[in-house]
Amino acid sequence: MANQLATSGILYLWLNLLIMNAHRMSVMGFIARWPGGRATRSYDFKVQTTKIEKLCNTWDIVTINGMFPGPVIYAQEDDRVIVRVTNETPYNATIHWHGVRQRLSCWSDGPSYITQCPIQSGQTFTYEFTLVQQKGTLLWHAHVSWLRGTVYGAIVVYPKTGVPYPFIYPYEEHIILLGEFWLRDLVQLEQSVIASGGGPPPADAYTINGHPGPNYNCSTNDVYKIDVVPGKTYLLRLISASLNTEHFFAIANHKLTIVEADAEYTKPFTTDHVMLGPGQTLNVLVTANQPIAKYSMAMGPYMSARNVPFQTITSTAYFQYLGALPNSLSSPAPVPTFNDNLAVKTVMDGLRSLSGTPSVPKEIDQNLFITIGLNVQKCTSRNPQQNCQGLNGGVMAASMNNISFIKPNISLLEAYYRKINGYFTEDFPGAPFKFYDFVNGAPNNAPVDTNSLNGSRTYVLEYGTRVQLILQDTGTVTTENHPIHLHGFSFHVIGYGTGNYNPDTANFNLVDPPYLNTIGVPVGGWAAVRFLADNPGVWFMHCHLEIHLSWGLSVVFIVKNGQGPLQTLPHPPADLPRC
Ligand code: C2O
Repeated sequence: MANQLATSGILYLWLNLLIMNAHRMSVMGFIARWPGGRATRSYDFKVQTTKIEKLCNTWDIVTINGMFPGPVIYAQEDDRVIVRVTNETPYNATIHWHGVRQRLSCWSDGPSYITQCPIQSGQTFTYEFTLVQQKGTLLWHAHVSWLRGTVYGAIVVYPKTGVPYPFIYPYEEHIILLGEFWLRDLVQLEQSVIASGGGPPPADAYTINGHPGPNYNCSTNDVYKIDVVPGKTYLLRLISASLNTEHFFAIANHKLTIVEADAEYTKPFTTDHVMLGPGQTLNVLVTANQPIAKYSMAMGPYMSARNVPFQTITSTAYFQYLGALPNSLSSPAPVPTFNDNLAVKTVMDGLRSLSGTPSVPKEIDQNLFITIGLNVQKCTSRNPQQNCQGLNGGVMAASMNNISFIKPNISLLEAYYRKINGYFTEDFPGAPFKFYDFVNGAPNNAPVDTNSLNGSRTYVLEYGTRVQLILQDTGTVTTENHPIHLHGFSFHVIGYGTGNYNPDTANFNLVDPPYLNTIGVPVGGWAAVRFLADNPGVWFMHCHLEIHLSWGLSVVFIVKNGQGPLQTLPHPPADLPRC
């Protein structure tokens, strides 16, 4: 697995050779035209049930092609990617290409019941998309039930041939996938947590490239390791594929220089640690400039919510210099303590887009204010003991603008496209029904009524709308850092702060804001993002903490077709799964 995940110059060379043919063709007069790519990368994904040994147990997990973590998708900017997914498990399956902007290919986005019905047992669906002007590190993951707990992998998109990285060429590159592992059936786990009305149990272990490392019972030899040559610089492609927890990452005695976030270059920013919420990716450079030894790399929890049980044991891996004695382990990697909000802010403050961002909308057409947070619903079950294990004997929920999203039982994109009535409404409010002290109050009869409404409400955007979203954390149940992810777009993160958003005091950066697909909205605070709604389709926006998604912390944007060329969503593919 280590070899599989470690890409060296050799792979890059091989890719270049492949691409050179395409390049020669373009010299000979073949003109690549968007949305057609320069080259096509084809992959075969078999969703399978696979036995693995973890934490002293033999365990069945769902994988792609028997691999955990799953296979890497390699491509170059502007390539066409085709992935044929066959479901050989008894579960429903879909794959989402997290961060791929899916220009005119919403049908291949992957969230179940939003852009497609799940691929049922024994069925096949082929995803096709072009990486239009995208390069860097992203991830793919299952987008149905909690299957993405084991069904995930990296997407590595190299720049076009001949285009260098805007930083020192690394000696080697390594993919580092952060995960969470449960000795449970994840489909059943989601069902039982929802049925209980309460919160989820903590993970049994955190994992680095699938390995918990030596801090857990029975796991001494199940550890990931990178062998490094003294003096060389390494590019680490950090990816958080964890389910319900955000994580710090650090390497003992070594600095990390962030050069890319969510597959967009950033100004180099050097730090001791980083934080990644689920779905976030960071490319960091690390130079092996310390005395020869074996150093620990660690991922530890960032838990900003109050009274939530979580796994406290860190997962460690090794950053081992050539020539180091095997038992010369250094001091532990300095991951911040679990509630170190300042450590998170420091890294966020350092994220600036490299080139400045000429594309950040200076004017806006639509200004939406969206609260995000948790709720406790009144218990209505006849069996409260069993079904109302949330706070104060209630049922846990989550919402945007105090509306908990209910997934329809058909594909929302299909319902929209084929004008099938009755599955969704177009009345998601552009502002909360009521303004109050979001961080310290409750939405209804303050301070006690913590209920939300339910609905499959969408928000419709005309093609080309310049949108600003103010995302405001609420303290209805507990304030918390929420990693909010938007499908189909990246957004410019032009501002953020603590407390309630106040337009008179908020400071916006319209010069070099980071361009991300997932934003960790600060605990008890707000974030402001802008994007241009120029991709027709049905796009999910949700908290990437899976339990919050299950509880309804999401909304759907419908972006209408435009008038011009390449502004219309094509017909659905013939093999689109049926519900
Ligand atoms: Cu990575 Cu809708 O998710």
